Amino acid sequence: MSWPTWLPLRTDLQPLSPYGAPQVPAQATLNTNENPYPPSLALQNAITDAIQKVTSNLNRYPDRDADVLRAKLAKYINEGSETNFDIKNIWAANGSNEIIQSIFLAFGSGVTLGFTPSYSMHPIIAKVTGTKWVDGARNSDFSFNLDLAVQAVQTHKPTLTFITTPNNPTGDAVALSDINILADVVGNQGGLLIVDEAYAEFSQEISAVTLLADKPHVIVIRTMSKAFAFAGARLGYLVADSHVVDAMMLVRLPYHLSSLTQAAAEVALDHRRELLAGVTSLVTAREQLADSLQQLGLRTVRSSANFLLFTGFSASAPQLWASLLEKGVLIRDVGLSGYLRVTIGNEADNQRFIDALEQLL
Ligand SMILES: Cc1ncc(COP(=O)(O)O)c(C=O)c1O
Repeated sequence: MSWPTWLPLRTDLQPLSPYGAPQVPAQATLNTNENPYPPSLALQNAITDAIQKVTSNLNRYPDRDADVLRAKLAKYINEGSETNFDIKNIWAANGSNEIIQSIFLAFGSGVTLGFTPSYSMHPIIAKVTGTKWVDGARNSDFSFNLDLAVQAVQTHKPTLTFITTPNNPTGDAVALSDINILADVVGNQGGLLIVDEAYAEFSQEISAVTLLADKPHVIVIRTMSKAFAFAGARLGYLVADSHVVDAMMLVRLPYHLSSLTQAAAEVALDHRRELLAGVTSLVTAREQLADSLQQLGLRTVRSSANFLLFTGFSASAPQLWASLLEKGVLIRDVGLSGYLRVTIGNEADNQRFIDALEQLL
């Protein structure tokens, strides 16, 4: 992008492009790892009632610290991981992207290390906040390599090290034992290990929140956008030592989380059993879709998330992506040569994707 000379845009921002997953109409939208199941009518009504109550008070600022919501998030994490967190260990924001931004604002003074390919917004938010980003290596099949990761931490001495598990865009999960070892190496260098668990509910791995009792330098990021099917509401959070949460309060904007968002998310957490019921169907559908792709002669990376990265087609990734879109199926070209990523959708959308692919291969 070229910028006019009169615009005093920071020079380090000038070469960047905005985050750009195409938002184009399609019959099957399988490109941004959303959950295909809309909220039930009962949940829609419960959210509407809660919002209705809040609207009478919209002349007032929201609860700045979102105490009720954070208590509910702590309860949810404790239920799943047999931990004992309370609101002092939770920080919530408008999506986990805002959580990531706040982490950079608070701690992004030195180098940040991540293991590419991974979530593309980690380096983008690093750059936007003026933090130096270093790419660490993975195995050639994209799986996490603990030895390479340890070496990279020892070489670069990062203030922040990011691990995404299950990883996006590959879908594979990092073993908790590897995270545990890396956390010690990171801690010995005086850094923080950030574990982005946006897709944790789709995985069998034990959450890294279980490491926090012994390792205050581990921060776990979670979101309600994926398993909770709540992407439109924008609610992400972190689980961490209380000092990390104190630091979040230094960098957050006052009243960053609207009373409408807080109310909607509180209701969704109260309905967590219903919302999370879709996870099991999506995991089953993921395995079926992986089988169907293999039957078409394609290969998939083993996924513990709600998407699949696949390869083995002869067209280029951008060509196949465009041909699928012509057939009404929007998936994601994540910029990895020879690979495309597809989000697990409902039965009809998955079938539409497979049918379109069958015609194109
Ligand atoms: C690994 C990872 N982290 C964070 C996010 C951001 O999610 P949100 O801002 O919707 O919470 C995503 C979204 O796709 C993701 O894949």
